[in-house]
Amino acid sequence: MTELRELERALSAVEAEARSAVEAAARPEELEALRLRYLGKKGRLTALKREVGRLPAELRPEFGRMVNRASAAIEAMLASRLEALARDETARRLEAERLDVTFPGRPWPRGHLHPVYQVWEAIEAIFVAMGFDVAEGPQVEWDDYNFVALNIPKDHPARDMQQSFYVAGEMLLRTQTSPVQIRYMRARCPELPIRMIAPGRVFRRDDDATHSPMFHQVEGLVVDRGISLGDLKGCLDLFAREMFGAAARTRFRPSYFPFTEPSAEVDVSCTVCGGTGCRTCGYSGWLEILGAGMVHPQVLANGGYDPEEVTGFAFGMGIERIAMLRYGVDDLRLFFGNDLRFLEQF
Ligand code: DAH
Repeated sequence: MTELRELERALSAVEAEARSAVEAAARPEELEALRLRYLGKKGRLTALKREVGRLPAELRPEFGRMVNRASAAIEAMLASRLEALARDETARRLEAERLDVTFPGRPWPRGHLHPVYQVWEAIEAIFVAMGFDVAEGPQVEWDDYNFVALNIPKDHPARDMQQSFYVAGEMLLRTQTSPVQIRYMRARCPELPIRMIAPGRVFRRDDDATHSPMFHQVEGLVVDRGISLGDLKGCLDLFAREMFGAAARTRFRPSYFPFTEPSAEVDVSCTVCGGTGCRTCGYSGWLEILGAGMVHPQVLANGGYDPEEVTGFAFGMGIERIAMLRYGVDDLRLFFGNDLRFLEQF
């Protein structure tokens, strides 16, 4: 009996020691070390368990129950301390990362369309109101569409005006949006009328104050029975007034393009001086805005149409050029410099 009492006291002592050690533990790793110290193979409680041999057989079951109870008690202390530590940690983190969902958000900088695209959209809106369809063509184009089908064969001098970026043999970055004329006609023929504009990027080996290696054009094409030069003039007159104001006038000068006959260069009365002459217009009163003409019979035929039956007009304008006139910008490269001090003015 005395041995049992002695062992019981020893058990209580170990349990009490474990309790204060567990209470003092500040981190989960310390609790793991304490588990080993008391319950591990070489632990304090495990060592006491072996003392069972000192007891007579009839007392051993009781001692067994006492050891199990102490072991369970220490397990429970470890578990509840671990839980308390986890709770403290969560509370600490919540405090550190406290989030006020009613706090106003950071203002997100609001951008706007690039001036070139603002003008692109304005041009589109004017022609859509006149009943034009908006078409697109690829930026990487066949030599055939970009030149040959537009009456510019391989050795034609007009190619010199459009120094090209060739991608491979017969493919290039298109130098103009005019190839969309061919693509559009071939896709629609024999549909009539054709009334389309094709805005998009074009590329040339040019780089100075009025030329950039990448710029934007809007192509226009109308094909139907009985289309005349008068229709072309009326259409571009209306465009000029919508774009530059009711006082804007146009002037057609004879010119040459391989894909139109006759061809014209179209000027608009100077947007700065109104036509009296100033530095912007070189004291001429006029600013050149686009090329145009009556579609060449061969081009109509290349599109699949019978030039004996239909006629058409076409035009092509540079979007940057229109934007420069509209906003009074004197260097085209400013549009592509990505200088916010410039861009934020539009
Ligand atoms: N493609 C010509 C150029 O890039 C512009 C042009 C002129 C287009 C006359 C036309 C046109 O459709 O009829 O210089």
